[in-house]
Amino acid sequence: MSEHRAQRYKTTKPPFLPPLTTIDQETNKQHTLTMEAIFGKSFTADDIPDLAGKVYLVTGGAQGIGFGTTYNLLKHNATKVIIISRNPEIATEAKETLAKELGPDVHDRVQWIQCNLSNLPETDEVAKKIARSERRLDCIVANAGIGIDKYSMGPSGIEEHMAANHFGHFILIQHLMPLIKENNNKFGTPGRVVVTCSENHRWAKSDTKFASVDECNEDIGPTYLYNRAKLANILMARQLIKHHLSGPNPPRVYINSIHPGVVATTQQHVAADTYDKNEGYGVLPHIAHAVIRPFLKDIFEGCISECYAATSPEIEEKEVQGKYIMPPNSIKEGSSMSLDEELGDQLWRLSIQVVKDKTGTVFE
Ligand SMILES: NC(=O)c1ccc[n+]([C@@H]2O[C@H](COP(=O)([O-])OP(=O)(O)OC[C@H]3O[C@@H](n4cnc5c(N)ncnc54)[C@H](OP(=O)(O)O)[C@@H]3O)[C@@H](O)[C@H]2O)c1
Repeated sequence: MSEHRAQRYKTTKPPFLPPLTTIDQETNKQHTLTMEAIFGKSFTADDIPDLAGKVYLVTGGAQGIGFGTTYNLLKHNATKVIIISRNPEIATEAKETLAKELGPDVHDRVQWIQCNLSNLPETDEVAKKIARSERRLDCIVANAGIGIDKYSMGPSGIEEHMAANHFGHFILIQHLMPLIKENNNKFGTPGRVVVTCSENHRWAKSDTKFASVDECNEDIGPTYLYNRAKLANILMARQLIKHHLSGPNPPRVYINSIHPGVVATTQQHVAADTYDKNEGYGVLPHIAHAVIRPFLKDIFEGCISECYAATSPEIEEKEVQGKYIMPPNSIKEGSSMSLDEELGDQLWRLSIQVVKDKTGTVFE
């Protein structure tokens, strides 16, 4: 296994924070002030509740951060995890590793569906099929995505970053929202949607309007292409609330965005290659990557904010809705652009139009 594939399966523990200890002079008793007591409890994989009966869908769940989430969901007894991604070899290897780690019944609990999210008609068909075949869906983790990568036109005539990271997920979630919205009434647990975003959304170009496909297809450079798609992710999460959960007696569904932290995955390899071969930076990006890689989180640390948003009872207890969750479980707001109602509305209108034009499906 190459280095970046091998590290998918490495497990590490979060660094241990030493407690502060004081001695009461009168009683001579020792009092321990833990970091937990000062800052509140940090969510870890051990805090994931029992998920028996629950059904999850994780896009990109066979690799990288998504694999970490799949692993944790299955480890905590999720009845089923549906994975959507493109590469069959990676999916097979992921299933084998999961079965080896968690037991052979994993083969019955994981369903892999091949789908290229940047192919919008294909995604439309796959999403409709899932909507028809599944009885229950507790949560979608919209994790899949391409990172900082070269400009590349996707199969539906939309540049890969916006196509895969945003429009594909938009179609998938829109088709599956009815199922997620039913969850609370049918099974007594609210549905959830988790959208994997990135701190990079803060550096989207300030003139981003999401006005047209032409705008999405403008080559603004690898980093800005990624930043814009991540801004679209966080705006979409808030728009889903507006379009699906308003009015009297809205269904109980919790929709949040997360940032995973900086996590050692294939994305840094791709970014370094892109800046070398397409942007003319030579070996410098590779050297920078080699220097920082040992300090990045591994995927089991990097999946924690996804796992928190997808499983923690705190989301319901604290009514965490439309928020941006920083790792491991810090509830924040996104950038001012991510809170811009008009920009979100425009992205929604464009998304509806694009889906209609590319697939014929009309969402309200
Ligand atoms: N790594 C980080 O430091 C970091 C930081 C902030 C945010 N994120 C976000 O975290 C998420 C996961 O990234 P990662 O770092 O884990 O990357 P990764 O290891 O490259 O995994 C990406 C996953 O997405 C799937 N995918 C990519 N394009 C797809 C498409 N068109 N259709 C279907 N599946 C597709 C890939 O599977 P196939 O190739 O088999 O399709 C793969 O499973 C992304 O949304 C990323 O933007 C990562």
